[in-house]
Order: sequence, then C-alpha cells, then structure tokens
Amino acid sequence: MIMGLRLELWVVLFIFNGILDVILCDQQGFLSLSCGGNTTYVDSLNITWISDDEYINVGRTLTTSYVDNTSSMNTSVRYFPDARARNCYKLPVQNISSSVLVRAKFVYQNYDKLKRAPAFILSLGRAMTAAINLSKADPWTEEFIWPVSKDYVPFCLYHIPDGGNPVISSLELRPLPQGAYNSGLVGPRKNILRKCYRINCGYTNGSIRYPLDRYDRVWDADVDFSPSHLSVPLYTKVGLNVPSMSEVPPLAVLQTARLLERRNFLSYDLPLDEVGNYYIVLYFAGIVPVYSRFNILANGEIIQSNYTVNSRNSSVYYFTMKQVKGLNITFQNISFYPLVNSIEVFEIVDIPPETSSTTVSALEVIQQYTGLDLGWEEDPCFPKPWNHITCDGNLVTSIELSGINLRSISPAFGDLLDLRALDLHNTSLAGKIQNLEGLLHIEQLNLSFNDLTSFGTDLESLVNLQLLDLKNNSLQGTVPDKLGALKKLRLLNLENNKLRGPLPHSLKKENLVLRISGNLCLSFSTSGCNSSGEAPIEAPQFTVIPERKHRGHSHIAIILEEEAEIRNWNAARVFSYKEIKKATHNFKDVIGQGSFGSVYPGKLPDGKMVAVKVRSDKTQLGADSFVNEVHLLSQIRHQNLVSLEGFCHESKQQILVYEYLPGGSLADSLYGSNSKKFTLNWVRRLKIGIDAAKGLHYLHNGSEPRIIHRDIKCSNILLDEQMNAKVADFGLSKQLSEAEATHVTTTVKGTTGYLDPEYYSTLQLTEKSDIYSFGVVLLELICGREPFTRGSGNPDSFNLVLWAKPFLQAGMFEVVDDNLARDYDMESMRKAATIASRCVERDASIRPTMGEVLQELKEAYSLQLAYLASNGQAD
Ligand SMILES: *[C@@H]1O[C@H](CO)[C@@H](O)[C@H](O)[C@H]1NC(C)=O
Ligand SMILES: *[C@@H]1O[C@H](CO)[C@@H](O)[C@H](O)[C@H]1NC(C)=O
Ligand SMILES: *[C@@H]1O[C@H](CO)[C@@H](O)[C@H](O)[C@H]1NC(C)=O
Ligand SMILES: *[C@@H]1O[C@H](CO)[C@@H](O)[C@H](O)[C@H]1NC(C)=O
Ligand SMILES: *[C@@H]1O[C@H](CO)[C@@H](O)[C@H](O)[C@H]1NC(C)=O
Ligand SMILES: *[C@@H]1O[C@H](CO)[C@@H](O)[C@H](O)[C@H]1NC(C)=O
Ligand SMILES: *[C@@H]1O[C@H](CO)[C@@H](O)[C@H](O)[C@H]1NC(C)=O
Ligand SMILES: *[C@@H]1O[C@H](CO)[C@@H](O)[C@H](O)[C@H]1NC(C)=O
Ligand SMILES: *[C@@H]1O[C@H](CO)[C@@H](O)[C@H](O)[C@H]1NC(C)=O
Ligand SMILES: *[C@@H]1O[C@H](CO)[C@@H](O)[C@H](O)[C@H]1NC(C)=O
Repeated sequence: MIMGLRLELWVVLFIFNGILDVILCDQQGFLSLSCGGNTTYVDSLNITWISDDEYINVGRTLTTSYVDNTSSMNTSVRYFPDARARNCYKLPVQNISSSVLVRAKFVYQNYDKLKRAPAFILSLGRAMTAAINLSKADPWTEEFIWPVSKDYVPFCLYHIPDGGNPVISSLELRPLPQGAYNSGLVGPRKNILRKCYRINCGYTNGSIRYPLDRYDRVWDADVDFSPSHLSVPLYTKVGLNVPSMSEVPPLAVLQTARLLERRNFLSYDLPLDEVGNYYIVLYFAGIVPVYSRFNILANGEIIQSNYTVNSRNSSVYYFTMKQVKGLNITFQNISFYPLVNSIEVFEIVDIPPETSSTTVSALEVIQQYTGLDLGWEEDPCFPKPWNHITCDGNLVTSIELSGINLRSISPAFGDLLDLRALDLHNTSLAGKIQNLEGLLHIEQLNLSFNDLTSFGTDLESLVNLQLLDLKNNSLQGTVPDKLGALKKLRLLNLENNKLRGPLPHSLKKENLVLRISGNLCLSFSTSGCNSSGEAPIEAPQFTVIPERKHRGHSHIAIILEEEAEIRNWNAARVFSYKEIKKATHNFKDVIGQGSFGSVYPGKLPDGKMVAVKVRSDKTQLGADSFVNEVHLLSQIRHQNLVSLEGFCHESKQQILVYEYLPGGSLADSLYGSNSKKFTLNWVRRLKIGIDAAKGLHYLHNGSEPRIIHRDIKCSNILLDEQMNAKVADFGLSKQLSEAEATHVTTTVKGTTGYLDPEYYSTLQLTEKSDIYSFGVVLLELICGREPFTRGSGNPDSFNLVLWAKPFLQAGMFEVVDDNLARDYDMESMRKAATIASRCVERDASIRPTMGEVLQELKEAYSLQLAYLASNGQAD
C-alpha cells in the first residue's frame, strides 16, 4: 500500500528547475574553534577550523587528545580543572543587529582513562543555559540561538559538585540573518532558544547542513523519532514557492516530508528533558500535486484547525507550549494528505535582568581601587555571583573584601545601595568612617581589625543596622550619642579601641549587646572609669541572621463592582473568548511582550485593528481587581493615551483590547531595524515629546483617580500614521502586581536606564519618578541614543543621563543627535535641553511638574517653527 502510493506520486511529480537552486555561499562570519587544537585545518565541508587559544578567558586549562574510535582521527579537547574558575570563551560577533547560532560539542571518550564522564553546566551571557552530563550521552551537542546584545558572546563552563572537569571539543558560531527566529525571542530582554529538535521529516539518510544550509544549521535525519503511526517518507524535486522568512530551511529540507496516507493521524512524540516553555516551528511545503488540509494538534489540543498547504507553496507555523515536559505533535486528516516537512523545537531560556548600571560601575571602581584582578567581569549577579559578593535576584546585597589592602572607604561603596552586609575587616582602613551614608538597607557592617580613628557621622543614618563591629581599630574620643538612635542595632562591638568617657545612655537598651573591653576608659558610669575597662554588660557573641524581606500583599481596591454590572458599561466593550480568538487568528502573531503578558494584533469583524493584551497566568489579578482595573481604564480617554476598546474575562483569561497604532513605538523609530531616525527631524521630535507630555500630564492631573505611570519609556510611546504620539501601558495593574512581587523589585517597577535614582532610597515611585523617566525620553530625542548600554570593549557602561546632562547644562550641543544635521534653532534646543536636564535631577523635589515640562516644550516647538519659516522650510 505504502509502496503503491509512493510509486503513484513519483509518477505525477515533476521536475521543476527554477525558483530556487541550492545557494552556495561563503562562510561569512563563521567562527569554528577546535578546542585544545593547535593547528588550522579545513574539514570535508570546506569549513576552516582554528585553535581556541585566543578566545579563551581563563587562567588554567589543559588540553589533551584522544583517538576518535569512529573516524580514527586524533582529536583534541580542552578541560578545566579549576573548580572555582569562570571558564569562559569570548566569541566575537561581527554584526550586533541579528542573532547568532552557538553550537558546542562536548566529548569525553575516556580521554583521562578514569572512566568517569563529567557533568557540568553552561552559561551564555547572563543565563544558565544547559546542564551537561556526559554519562548520559558522549559526545553531546548543544545549540543555542542568542539575541546579540554586545559585540561578543560570553560562553562559560562551570563545575558542579562531584561533577569532574568540564570538557569541550568544539565551539561554532554562525550569524543568522536579521529576523531569524524572532517570534521565538520574546520579552523585553528577549530570551535564548535552546535547540531540542530539528528534524528533516521524511529524510532518513544522514543530516543536512552547510553548504546546503547557508547558516549551517544541522537538520537531523528523521530516524529516531519514529512517528507513532506509520507514514510515508517522501522525497521529491518539485520546485517550491519558499516562505519569505529569514529562517527558511534549505530547499533540500523542504523537498522531503512525512506524509499520512489513509489514516487519521500523523504524530510525532518528542520527549523533552524537563518541564519548561517551548517554542515550536513547523514547516510545510506542498510537494504533492494536491492541496492538503488538516488540523494541527499539540498534546491533544487543536491549536490550528483547517490548515491548508497548497501544491508547490510552502509555509511556516509557529507556537509556544508552556510548562510542558513532553510534546506530541499530531496532524489530523481533513482532506487529502496531511504532511509535514520539518520540525524545530526550542526550549525558551529566560535571560535574567541586568544588575543596575550604578552598581556595576561602583563595583568596577572598587576592583580598580583594590589594584587586584578579582575576576569581576560581565554581570555581577548572573549567571553566577562574582567572588566576594552575594546577590538577591539582580541586587547586590553583600560584599566581603577582608584581607585586601584598601586604606580608606572608597565613595564607590556608598553607591551599592542595595547592600545588606558589608565586610571590610582587616583591609587597612584608616581615618574616618565615611562614604557609607547612602546604605540605608545595610544590616551588618564589619569594619574590625583596621586603623580607623574617627566615627564620622555616616553611621547615624544607617537606620537598619543590626550588627556593627568596630573592634580592634584606633577609634578615639567619645562614643556618639546618636548610635543609640539606631533602633534595630543588636550588637555593637567597640573592643580594643582608644575610646574614653562615659557611654551615652541612649545605648543602655535591653536588646542591645555592647562589647567595650580594651578601651582607655569607657563605661556608663559618669563617676570616672571602671579601672579594669571590662564591659558592664556581658552577653555571649551572636550572629544576626538578616530577615528575609517580605512585602505586604496589600491590594489597592478602588471600587468593588458586581460582576454583572460590568456588562452594562458603555465605555468598554465585552468580548467573548471566541471573538478574541477569531480576531487574533488564534493568537497567531505576537507583536510585543509587555510586563504582564503577550500582545497580539487582531482584526475585529468591522475591520478595525486592535492590539490584544493577554495576561500571563503569573500576572493575573483577582477577579475583583481585574474588574476594577477595566472599569478604571475604560474611563480614561485622552487623545494622547492609547485607549481601551474592551476586554474579555472568561475561561480563566484576562484580556485587554486596545486600539492599534500602526506606527509602532518611538523606540522602534529611533533604534529599530527600520529606524526612521533620519526622518525624525527636530520639529517632529518636539511634537512627539509634546504629545507624550500631554498624555502624561493628563494621567497626573486630569484623570480620576490620578495615575502614576511607573514605566515611561520610548517603547511605551506609540505612534499613529501621522506620527501623533500616544502613551501606552498605564494603569493600576503594575501597582497591583507589584504587591505580589516578593523579590525582583526593579524589573517590575521600571526599566533600566529610566528608573528614578531616588527609588533606591525611598523604594517608592512617585509622580516625580515619571518626570525622571520622561526626562530620559527627552534626552533620547535630543541625543538619539538609548538610555543605557553596557560598553562594548571599554569597561565603562554608558549611561545617557550621566553622559549628556553635563554637556546640555553647559549649553554644549556636541551630544545632539547627528541625524538632526544641526538643522535646529539654538534657542529651541536650549529650552528642550534645559527642561530635559531638570527632569533628570537626582533630587526629585527640584524636578519640574508635567505642566511645566509641557509649557517649555511648546515654547521650544514654536521657536523651531519660526526658525523653519524664516529659512523657508515647511514641515
Ligand atoms: C602542537 O602541539 C604538539 C604537541 O603538543 C606540538 O608538538 C606542536 O609543536 C604544536 N604545534 C604548534 C604549531 O604549536
Ligand atoms: C572552500 O572555501 C574557500 C573559501 O573559504 C573557497 O575559495 C573555495 O572555493 C571553497 N572550495 C570548495 C570546494 O567549495
Ligand atoms: C566507540 O566508543 C563507544 C563508546 O565510547 C563504544 O560504544 C563503541 O563500541 C566504540 N566503537 C568502536 C568501533 O570501538
Ligand atoms: C595525538 O596528537 C597529539 C599531538 O597532536 C600527540 O601528542 C598524541 O600522541 C597523538 N595521539 C595518537 C594516538 O596519535
Ligand atoms: C549523570 O548521569 C548519570 C547516569 O544517568 C547519573 O548516574 C548521574 O547522577 C548524573 N550526574 C549528575 C551530576 O546529574
Ligand atoms: C548587519 O545585519 C543587518 C541586518 O541583517 C544588515 O542590514 C547589515 O548590513 C549588517 N551589517 C554588516 C556590517 O554586515
Ligand atoms: C545515503 O547517502 C550516502 C552518502 O551520503 C549515499 O552513498 C547513499 O546512496 C544514500 N542512500 C540512499 C538510499 O539515498
Ligand atoms: C499523540 O496524540 C495523538 C492525537 O492526540 C494520539 O492519538 C496519540 O496516541 C498520542 N501519542 C502518545 C504517545 O500519546
Ligand atoms: C475548513 O475550510 C473549508 C474551506 O475553507 C470549509 O469549507 C470547512 O467548513 C472548514 N472546516 C472547518 C472544520 O472549519
Ligand atoms: C502561499 O502561501 C502563502 C502563505 O504561506 C500565501 O500568502 C500565498 O497566498 C500562497 N500562494 C499561493 C499561490 O497559494
């Protein structure tokens, strides 16, 4: 039967020369490292392999070789014996505007004759990406798609306890075309895709890669995945209309398929390593001379019904599966022959949030200050905290540098605003205790065994201090009264100093353990010294264990509505889940990933385009809160605010439907791949600034209740076709979801580069925080640069505010975007620059209000219009 069908098809198939032939390409941007090798050679695919020596970034590694028992080749490997080292490669990326494929091969093959295959873990950038266990498979290959964010890929191997020495055999880097796998790279920080499967369906004779695949992806033979129902492998040379996406598979891959004949199902069962989120790409090509129509099911549920593949045409279908530990992809017959040509499955690996730029710069300064190489590179907290520091999420919460020669407390320590514990004992500190006043969260401070002579005044502001250890210093004079005002202080050790005089009575407290022996003359008694100098209060030494931070679960409920009443609202329309599904073509395309879920484009039956925002499970609100929020949002109408069209609240879904703005975001216009930076002249930029200012002004002053946006940034300012700007993504939800968040605080509340610096001390976002963020947006309009980038090459990170503000305040316009081609009125620019600089003042109280900002921008706008008119230019 099967053979019959095959023959029949061979008869009707036709050879088509034309549309596409195999594209032979150069290996531009390929980097192929033979780990531990010391010669350059060209392999049978004409790929050039070089030694990894120059790309490795670690002290002690060893290389060895083994004879591969299949190829009889003498092959080299590199292994990493130092259990505490960051064993890293830095792979240079030529084009930082796309993604790259990183493929690593690990081989043990008993090279050390110990028969103990190692297990270890890998990281890419900030993300831990994979656990390798060569007892399970040897060799072992991993492949990742990495959204490039700097001009090199940091790729590291780490020991695990009893895991043996990490070992690597080869490392390959392949640039991908722009846009490749973009729909799988979601979220503000994007994510890494870890390849699980790439199956060339219906092809059983080996794998296909370069040069047939110009990007050198390896398309595996369809042999180990035995579909659960018999199917026909099919091969043809028919010409095909190839889908116009950048990750298109090579023609050779599209020309084979698994095809189902006279049965109901064609299934692939794809076991996965672990429970996680997965991104699946299916490729279809009409290589039979009829059209196929079928349903696509994943783990038993129909995710696309009535999918059609026309003869000679081809298409791609992608989707994600959340929290699954296995995949069953099934094609269910509707008419003719369901078929599938290729399947790719990727695990979605989240990239953790960056540590704040202030913290990173401070730590870099401290490292320089020590004069030592502490091995502090890349992000302090991820993938693994640096030596000497501890993190809570992306906050650096403790640092310990004992035994290093520091001499004085550098101001940089004062910038580590999240510190809970600082241990600088035995670091040769001398002079005054200083530069610590900003450390409002600090609970444990150990400055013992130094040569400090004076208390200074900083300690008084450390209101959360529980343990203060100053023993074995040279502190002189009397003990400051104000130390007694530190309510949480539980242990104060002043032993072995040169203190004298009566102890302040404020320190006579039940919960405070004082240790004061070894001083000149110190006691609570006013009538002179206790001759022995013994501490009057004795208590055993103890350690304070810092309490874990817990945030209250206080929901902000404004009005309680009856569920039934919501149907009567006229402002917002109530959609059924079915309508939503239809409008979004079953959530086919993702246009964005906001702070609380994905955004899909949709089309209502009347043709109106909408943006459909679907809450992810994690960010869902209680029913009451959701109803409150919709009620609130539906009442906020302003021409410069993106309006809520309606919502859906059923099937455990919380969905908000917004008006759709075709012009994308301001961030896209300034920095996106189709950047319109050049066409955004000064008058247009001012207009965008004014529009956004109006929207924000309304939120602050006009709406009821008043709303703090909390996440003003260029990607939340959207444009319509006429370049009118509207502010998006405002509402109560962030206040609510923030109350749920117990740890990662900065990511919930703001975006790196836009976050009010005062937030670190107050832990509160206010109207003035919005003003700060808005000031950053203005600086971006003026300078055409993103607010924050980690430096490429140089160790300093770039911070737009720190960089631009001094220039602009001084009226020096070198920092103005070159794309503005100096075609602006100086006075107009001066006004805008001045107001932008005032918005980003560190001290919130001197920042202007939104009303003032708007006024100044309007004046700058008029000046620019007058300038254009006098130059005979019209906009
Ligand atoms: C490569 O390594 C081998 C053995 O370690 C050594 O004999 C040879 O000189 C090396 N070649 C180069 C070019 O370094
Ligand atoms: C191998 O690659 C080189 C350049 O990388 C090219 O000049 C040469 O033609 C290629 N040879 C074959 C057989 O493809
Ligand atoms: C090659 O090594 C593998 C495992 O190390 C072993 O299973 C296989 O039998 C070996 N093949 C030959 C030809 O020695
Ligand atoms: C493999 O090559 C290395 C140097 O490249 C050499 O030291 C070693 O003896 C070789 N092993 C075998 C079995 O040929
Ligand atoms: C590696 O795999 C082997 C065999 O499955 C297992 O016994 C061992 O515990 C694993 N090692 C680690 C560190 O997971
Ligand atoms: C980088 O990639 C983009 C998009 O693929 C392309 O337009 C640009 O020309 C590339 N730049 C270089 C230097 O290759
Ligand atoms: C499989 O591929 C090998 C070479 O890669 C070729 O010699 C052989 O003929 C192929 N077999 C079939 C059935 O196509
Ligand atoms: C895969 O799904 C199909 C359709 O839902 C089902 O018939 C088949 O039994 C499933 N296979 C496994 C192994 O669960
Ligand atoms: C599938 O599509 C065809 C034609 O577009 C239509 O006639 C048929 O009713 C659809 N079937 C289902 C189950 O939606
Ligand atoms: C080919 O498929 C694409 C979608 O993948 C579709 O837009 C196009 O109309 C189809 N062309 C033909 C000739 O069927």
